Amino acid sequence: MGVDIDPFSDPNYAHALEAFRALSPELATAYGAIVKSSARREHPLSALDVGAGAGTFLIPLLNEIDSDRQTRVSVVEPSSAMRARLLRNLRAVDRNPTSVMLARIEDQKLPLSEFDLILLSEVTHLIEGWDRVARRLAAALTPGGLILIRTSSHQQLRERDWYQLFPRALEVDLARHIGIKELTDVLRLLSLSIEVRTVCESREVGTDWYLELLANRAFSTLHYLTDEELAEGVAQARAALEDKRLVYFDYEMTCVTAMKR
Ligand SMILES: C[S@@+](CC[C@H](N)C(=O)[O-])C[C@H]1O[C@@H](n2cnc3c(N)ncnc32)[C@H](O)[C@@H]1O
Repeated sequence: MGVDIDPFSDPNYAHALEAFRALSPELATAYGAIVKSSARREHPLSALDVGAGAGTFLIPLLNEIDSDRQTRVSVVEPSSAMRARLLRNLRAVDRNPTSVMLARIEDQKLPLSEFDLILLSEVTHLIEGWDRVARRLAAALTPGGLILIRTSSHQQLRERDWYQLFPRALEVDLARHIGIKELTDVLRLLSLSIEVRTVCESREVGTDWYLELLANRAFSTLHYLTDEELAEGVAQARAALEDKRLVYFDYEMTCVTAMKR
């Protein structure tokens, strides 16, 4: 890639992530059901979100699985722009995190046998050295605890419509996403029990919303493109969707759960 880019410290990215990528109530229910069916405890007592961003996955999920607000929430998040938004969004729903670690997960020591639930939503592709990090996460789980990973397989990336507009973005994402087999093999070697599900997050959205999502670089990969590459792809999309009010937003995801027996 050879580009020195950190979209996560850009307040515009944090804003775009919040505005366009928040988990819908239906999806929060779907992921909540996965946690409830996989976790041994009905309510996790202690949760860690790795790369929580602005909390657009964490907060709707907590509303599903922790309506009585018993859960202690810790966060590892390296970007202070994201952390500021996260704290503001948590405050807005009257939640206070127990601890916010401003660090990359690769550099963060974790307490042993502490967390009942560890979330990694759209972050595994940003982690360097998955083996080492996975070992540390497994050690941080309580017995019966659950790691939940939300990510994209290479096939899902290749099939996603918007990449056709930005071929270089697809190359970037294929290079940085670890394959699902590689991801889960590491977890299996740590004696965790693994389930892999496909979660269909695709939906029809307004054309203006879709074009804004792309133009605002609401996917970090779009930050790797030049202004010209971005403008060209957005113009192509605009021309193709000229007379359409709605567009199918193709967003099929993979959810991996790994439970410590
Ligand atoms: C695509 S966003 C996902 C945010 C959130 N989990 C969600 O699903 O909405 C990725 C987040 O991971 C954070 N991140 C990037 N590299 C990381 C690392 N090495 N360790 C932990 N978090 C990281 C970024 O700052 C950003 O907030």
